[in-house]
Amino acid sequence: MHKFFAKPLFLGKNVIFLPECHSTNDYALNALNKPDIREGTVIITDNQTKGRGQRGNIWVSEPGKNIILSLVLEPGFLQISQQFGLTLVTSLAVYDLLSQYVPQVRIKWPNDIYIGEKKTAGILIENSLRNNKIEHAVIGIGININQQGFLSNLATSLSLEKGEVLEREALIEELLVFIEKWYLKLKKGQTELRDEYLSRLYWFKENRVFEDAAGEFEGSILGVDPLGRLVVKTTSGQRVFDIKEVKFIK
Ligand code: BTN
Repeated sequence: MHKFFAKPLFLGKNVIFLPECHSTNDYALNALNKPDIREGTVIITDNQTKGRGQRGNIWVSEPGKNIILSLVLEPGFLQISQQFGLTLVTSLAVYDLLSQYVPQVRIKWPNDIYIGEKKTAGILIENSLRNNKIEHAVIGIGININQQGFLSNLATSLSLEKGEVLEREALIEELLVFIEKWYLKLKKGQTELRDEYLSRLYWFKENRVFEDAAGEFEGSILGVDPLGRLVVKTTSGQRVFDIKEVKFIK
């Protein structure tokens, strides 16, 4: 992996490449107050041994095959209640990256990226807060690029879908350009991000089956609220769900 990305304006000018680490998010979180960790720093590894996912899950990635990185941002312009903006930025950017190569890319709420019916990328965003604002955000991104086999048949890689091996460095550079584009729009207060997100959302406005603590129910996704919660139209009216409160069934 090279250590400098030329195309983005400010992301990836400082790259820390670790041949192996427990978790790039943990590395970034532990290093946040060190002087060499500034906005735009990217931590990349070839082998993550304790990768973390959403909801306390683990993230497993075959060494040397995929994109595993964490990006440090300093979005002091965001209140804590606006943190979903970072989910919008990151999922739109990963969507843009993958959809350059394959069709049928979708964002599964809140921030899984699917190709067809299979998960290809996951995002884990962890923030440090100060005075009700987000002081640092660690944007952890795992994208399956060249891995050819998965334990789960609900996972895939860009290479499996495209039918060719891809060059990870070039993809990381493109990804950073997309993140930068959406991040600058967020920073300028542009409101189009939520509509762009909805237009790429898996199961958006489709009649589907979901499950909550009380069991399965039919509904249709209407959108996301400003806090990033899923808004679903059901037979018992409009309902709002947090990430741990609802599952997508069929
Ligand atoms: C998920 O879908 O559950 C989120 C997965 C996030 C994985 C990435 S890989 C880089 C960064 N480091 C981690 O430990 N996790 C994130």
